[in-house]
Amino acid sequence: MTTAAAASGDALADASLALISSLQHPSGAYPASPTFSAYAGYCWFRDGSFIADGMSAAGDPSSADRFFEWCSSVVLDHRDQISRVAAARALGQPLDDSQMLPTRFLLDGSHGSDDWWDFQLDGYGTWLWALEAHARRHGRLPDSLADAVMLTVDYLTATWDRPCFDWWEEHTEHRHVSTLGCVGAGLEAAIAMEILDSDRADRAEAVAREIRMLISAEGVTSGHLTKWLGSSAVDASLLALIAPMGYLPPDSALTSQTLTRIESELAVDGGMHRYLGDTFFGGGQWPLLSCFAGLAHAAMGDHSAARAYLAWAAGTVRDGSSLPEQVPDHLLAPDFEQEWIDRWGPVATPLLWSHAMYLRLRSEVSR
Ligand code: BGC
Repeated sequence: MTTAAAASGDALADASLALISSLQHPSGAYPASPTFSAYAGYCWFRDGSFIADGMSAAGDPSSADRFFEWCSSVVLDHRDQISRVAAARALGQPLDDSQMLPTRFLLDGSHGSDDWWDFQLDGYGTWLWALEAHARRHGRLPDSLADAVMLTVDYLTATWDRPCFDWWEEHTEHRHVSTLGCVGAGLEAAIAMEILDSDRADRAEAVAREIRMLISAEGVTSGHLTKWLGSSAVDASLLALIAPMGYLPPDSALTSQTLTRIESELAVDGGMHRYLGDTFFGGGQWPLLSCFAGLAHAAMGDHSAARAYLAWAAGTVRDGSSLPEQVPDHLLAPDFEQEWIDRWGPVATPLLWSHAMYLRLRSEVSR
């Protein structure tokens, strides 16, 4: 396992690189959090893809390579299931959510036995996006990953319009704009890799276009993106579509109005909430979301706002070097905090995704 990343002169960045390196499983999987009761032993496609992106940008690309190989082996292990889903779609046969791929796996790539809100599509798009960004950054896209990219395209083009759980494992009855954006970004990334055969490329292009049209038609209210199709609320997960995913161009009115609305509703003193009405651990502020906001500002050219978010995220550190999933500041629903502590123990700390987003934003502002 490499710890090759160069010392950066920023103790939290160095600690973050070392932490993620030391916890990456030999299989390439990143555990979401080593100690938190509900996450320990599991790797999410969503968290893992953003962690790989952070490692890729911050000085340890070989760690990202190993994660993408893990994604590939997990997808290839599900070849038959994906073929069944794609065939049913082509024949117009209904499929139950239980026939879809899970959102998280044990570190060896097998399925866990714990119940979870498992049908979530965003991570399968996000790994394609992160892989293409990594390939562009470092000039390497191993041929061995091509089959898994194609299978993932088959899976997403067969499932993209189904309602599913969102980033927060909630509201399976809706079609979430951030999820649709992650799927669209993933399909566009797969096309950009130029490894798809022409049938697949055509299918990916058609679906990617439909996703953009659907978001414009039903996922925008008052000039900003919305939490799900037909809603008027926002959700901080939408920030990822601005940056690092670049699904929204930094100079569009939709981008600036989405950022403005999210900040006016969800940011307090630099700390970003997930969405109004959040009750998870009382609905605190998430360092990783503050880093997404910082990345959005950096993409739009405002490095001083980006640095302010980075500083806020750094200020959430616990025990000198651990970033939590959230901090209990400005709780939206304080009455719910204890209920979650009783159920799952104290807030997940460290959360590798928080560390990775810190690294990712830091790499952006220190260029
Ligand atoms: C969050 C997910 C995340 C998971 C692991 C959950 O609480 O809702 O977005 O993937 O934790 O970090």
